[in-house]
Amino acid sequence: MNPLKQKKIVLAVTGSIACYKSLFLTRLLIKAGAEVRVIMTPSATKFVAPLTFSTLSKHPVYTSVIDEEAWNNHVELGLWGDLMLIAPCTASSLGKMANGIADTIVTAVYLSAKCPVWFAPAMDRDMWTHPSTQENIRKLTSYGNKIIPVGNGELASGLVGAGRMAEPEDIITALSKLFTTQQDLAGKKVVITAGPTQESLDPVRFLGNHSSGKMGIELADVCAGRGAEVTLVLGPSVLLPEYPGIKLVSVRSAEDMYNAAVEAFSSSDIAIMAAAVADYRPKTYSDIKIKKKQGEMTIELERTKDIAAHLGSIKKSHQLTIGFALETTNEEANAKRKLEKKNFDMIVLNSLKDKGAGFQHNTNKVKIINTKGEVIDYELKSKRAVAEDIVNQIVEFQK
Ligand code: CTP
Repeated sequence: MNPLKQKKIVLAVTGSIACYKSLFLTRLLIKAGAEVRVIMTPSATKFVAPLTFSTLSKHPVYTSVIDEEAWNNHVELGLWGDLMLIAPCTASSLGKMANGIADTIVTAVYLSAKCPVWFAPAMDRDMWTHPSTQENIRKLTSYGNKIIPVGNGELASGLVGAGRMAEPEDIITALSKLFTTQQDLAGKKVVITAGPTQESLDPVRFLGNHSSGKMGIELADVCAGRGAEVTLVLGPSVLLPEYPGIKLVSVRSAEDMYNAAVEAFSSSDIAIMAAAVADYRPKTYSDIKIKKKQGEMTIELERTKDIAAHLGSIKKSHQLTIGFALETTNEEANAKRKLEKKNFDMIVLNSLKDKGAGFQHNTNKVKIINTKGEVIDYELKSKRAVAEDIVNQIVEFQK
């Protein structure tokens, strides 16, 4: 079945020469079985008549919030769609969307939309590269909206460069991919801890570990791709998630990670603790750089707070906690003990004995153990594929 079949698409058309491409886009959407409602800004109607879109979409087109004394319910339309697609999206509409200006039906529906919002910019090269346009795009992607990248080539002004709206066929391919991914975490809030922590000794030194954060970041991307609202509490890492809607909270120490995770957990359904949190930190911190002295040096350490154990102790019946265990001896027995001790619902065991598993690898080999007594053993896979397996188990566990 075509993934776009019966999908409800709000197609918002704003005033650009690329409006003609949206006629083809409408035709392709209808052909794929989607239900399309077109809304247009007044300037878009100067390029293409609403009648053309209403004929292709087989539905009336709205061009303003108030049409001939009747109020077009933008809130209803914002709730109706499975996706809002703004194509072409002009520099002006980008700016209004980024700053909450609801002076056209397009921006009013945008502010009311509860569904994913994708936008396909179209503008001249210099407008595209202007810092203000780029800042607006950054804002929109930070709200979780997804940009369909512009193409390069000849522009209506005669200039050559970036700024062309993506081709309708490419937009259809991207949308089909979106609707093929299972949205089985839609409506769920997930908090994920990832990466190492750094425990400072003085302004220049810290105790840390080799975690890259990759496993937790892959989990964040997979959860977000499957419809969850994700908060990623990430220790110092050079890697970042791909998915634009993820709320990123950057932390350094175990204490910072604890505070951020506890705060996010209060409104979450699922917590996945993939971070390699320091178990100890220096007991004292020196404000000035510690100078070397003759002989040996001893650093006194104290325990950090155990985030996983704390979340396990306060979790409510609708909340799940999932932990990781990195073991070198008696792996399964130790992991089962940790599952119980930290009150996890599920634990992901990786053994350092397995080649290609654990820190600083792009692959991992895991066993998933849950409180139903199930032990599932997996092959060595990419960390993305392992993240998919973990999320599949979480979805199964909740059934
Ligand atoms: N964890 C955590 N906070 C800590 C320490 C660990 O949230 N301060 C989490 C990890 O993210 C992981 C799980 O607890 O999900 C297991 O961590 P690990 O350090 O292996 O467990 P410990 O209980 O510290 O056991 P041990 O050091 O004896 O192996």
